[in-house]
Amino acid sequence: MGALDGKTAIITGGGSGIGFAIAERFVKEGANVVLAGRSQKRLDEAVEKLGRRARGMVTDVADEAQVQRLIDSEPRIDLLVTCAGGAVFGPVEQVPTKSWRELFDGRFFGQLSACHHAVPKMPPGSSIVLCSGIAGHAALVNYSGGAGLCGAVNAMGRSLAVELAPKGIRVNVLSPGLTHGTAIDWKVPPEKLDEFMAGLMSNIPMKRSASAHEMADAAFFLATCTYATGMVLDIDGGWTAI
Ligand SMILES: NC(=O)c1ccc[n+]([C@@H]2O[C@H](COP(=O)([O-])OP(=O)(O)OC[C@H]3O[C@@H](n4cnc5c(N)ncnc54)[C@H](OP(=O)(O)O)[C@@H]3O)[C@@H](O)[C@H]2O)c1
Repeated sequence: MGALDGKTAIITGGGSGIGFAIAERFVKEGANVVLAGRSQKRLDEAVEKLGRRARGMVTDVADEAQVQRLIDSEPRIDLLVTCAGGAVFGPVEQVPTKSWRELFDGRFFGQLSACHHAVPKMPPGSSIVLCSGIAGHAALVNYSGGAGLCGAVNAMGRSLAVELAPKGIRVNVLSPGLTHGTAIDWKVPPEKLDEFMAGLMSNIPMKRSASAHEMADAAFFLATCTYATGMVLDIDGGWTAI
């Protein structure tokens, strides 16, 4: 018997990194998972690893019609996890505003539109796990637009938790710190990557990055703890404690 036997989960960004680790964990606990991402190849590889209880659906979460098609593909949704998205880094005077807008299209509006379409299909007892990042709580240099995005997702999660409590739907936000083993593109030139990573690592009391499996542990807790709602859970090796 798994904790998620018979449950259906939609996991955006489930083809790699944190989303994939969450999918692995959910499948191990008995859930059927639908993975969404833009690359068919990435989804196919993920589904092959996860086995018969997983399927993939090509979806660009920045396009609401595609999000609606994804949600429409299941009659009932017990778990919605929205991990799709990337990052943009750079000094405020150099990063074009358009780049931050595009980040919001996927990582903010992608999560909001997934909730918009999924909520009517979520029975009492179901759970939404949004994904932000510790920049919502800790100042991260060269990430001004991303910090705003993370703060916006955190605020959206709290607000939705209160709004959806009467429907019996819990809403929480997973806020990852620096996580390795993912496909995230930091948009940093290769020759500057070591220096960039060392800069990030210097903020972390535990002096190491997290694994995607450590993020999946947190997502599983948020998905299954029946009294957890309205939380923003920073899993960050102590970064936001200082
Ligand atoms: N890694 C970290 O240190 C860290 C820290 C804080 C927050 N986060 C956030 O955590 C989430 C997961 O990131 P990760 O580290 O696991 O990176 P990842 O391995 O790159 O995972 C992100 C996934 O999202 C998908 N994706 C990106 N844009 C999409 C779009 N518009 N529509 C649909 N799918 C899209 C990607 O697949 P396709 O390219 O095939 O679409 C990819 O599978 C992201 O929102 C990230 O910003 C990560």
